[in-house]
Amino acid sequence: MALVTTKEMFKKAYEGGYAIGAFNVNNMEIVQGITEAAQEQKAPVILQVSAGARKYAKHSYLVKLVEAAIEETGVDLALHLDHGADFEICKSCIDGGFTSVMIDGSHHSFEDNIAVTRRVVEYAHDRGVVVEAELGRLAGIEDAVNVSEADSSYTDPAQVEEFVTRTGVDSLAIAIGTSHGAYKFKPGQKPQLRFDILEEVERRLPGFPIVLHGASSVMQEYVQMVNQYGGQMPGAIGIPEEMLREAAKMAVCKINIDSDIRLAMTAAIRRHLVEHPDHFDPRQYLADARDAVKEVLPALDNLERALEAAKALLKSSGPSRKERTACRSAGVSASRSAAVLLRVCPVRGLWRYGCGGSMRVGYTVRRFGRPVRTGGGSADSRRRSWPPLFPRQAGSRCRY
Ligand code: G3H
Ligand code: 13P
Ligand code: ZN
Repeated sequence: MALVTTKEMFKKAYEGGYAIGAFNVNNMEIVQGITEAAQEQKAPVILQVSAGARKYAKHSYLVKLVEAAIEETGVDLALHLDHGADFEICKSCIDGGFTSVMIDGSHHSFEDNIAVTRRVVEYAHDRGVVVEAELGRLAGIEDAVNVSEADSSYTDPAQVEEFVTRTGVDSLAIAIGTSHGAYKFKPGQKPQLRFDILEEVERRLPGFPIVLHGASSVMQEYVQMVNQYGGQMPGAIGIPEEMLREAAKMAVCKINIDSDIRLAMTAAIRRHLVEHPDHFDPRQYLADARDAVKEVLPALDNLERALEAAKALLKSSGPSRKERTACRSAGVSASRSAAVLLRVCPVRGLWRYGCGGSMRVGYTVRRFGRPVRTGGGSADSRRRSWPPLFPRQAGSRCRY
């Protein structure tokens, strides 16, 4: 198994209508948590490293941790530079073993953004590395730079074709209302994303992979846990998971997650230390933190497996109307195929089973292994051969 680029991943994700999770890694526990979960779920995954991560952990430690993770878990993964500010950092990561880089010229003028992006693309493509760029500007905190709401701007769809054509970039991050950090909306404010912009971008760039930054959902269970065990994160709010699902069904192929990892680890460590005031071996609380990281990814289901099974299913006749209604009542987007059903399920812990005369879909949301929400519905199935893709006990999961 090896480090791969995102090319094949994005192609499959676009065609399959799902998105790949891209997780920021800063230390060993995060690398292990994400890759072990990816291994268990057989999920494709992107590990990304920011300038801040390189400063904190050093480039070679991070690359070697990632190489070790591939050796240990056997997963294929892409190693990506997140928010590369200039050509030099992109070059350094390309030369230093990354398979993908982001050149973030979003703070430049349109022409300067094109120029720097084009330069990185030429250097990267000559070396088999793919490039993500950004048009429009997200609000929030990036690498100690705080972009105020006033300085943020939505992507102008009228610019995307020219930008992509002139730069030759492989994927594009756009601004549709997500933002970096754990405070994306104000309490009481209705979370909203500009899906109309995404739709227009997709219309202008059919088949082209779009990236969503600032996509953490800031799970409230973790916020509560942080607050309960001595932290202070009042009013932390993220992107509702159903909006991520919606985006993934459209052209979004990569969903960037950092804050959710920070939050899960912090919650776990705070809880551990309060519950075990005598512990002072870092391995004790860091093991809990690593387990918490694993809970962030389950989000991503065994998409490959789901797709394969669903393709087989589609060769028969696809879910019946009744089954789709059952999916809806289970909170799962109704769709023509079980593949879509599985990949867009709104919560972790989706399960579906049924052969012969009936089927049932449902979900169980777990946090730290504890069920916190369940739901479901049943329907008649006209197919006798519907394979039990996800035996209930297996607790297969997906999110986007
Ligand atoms: O988009 C920004 C990421 O959350 C990276 O954050 O620069 O603090 O590592 P960082
Ligand atoms: P969050 O702060 O929403 O996790 O976004 C992370 C990100 O976009 C990294 O590039
Ligand atoms: Zn980002």
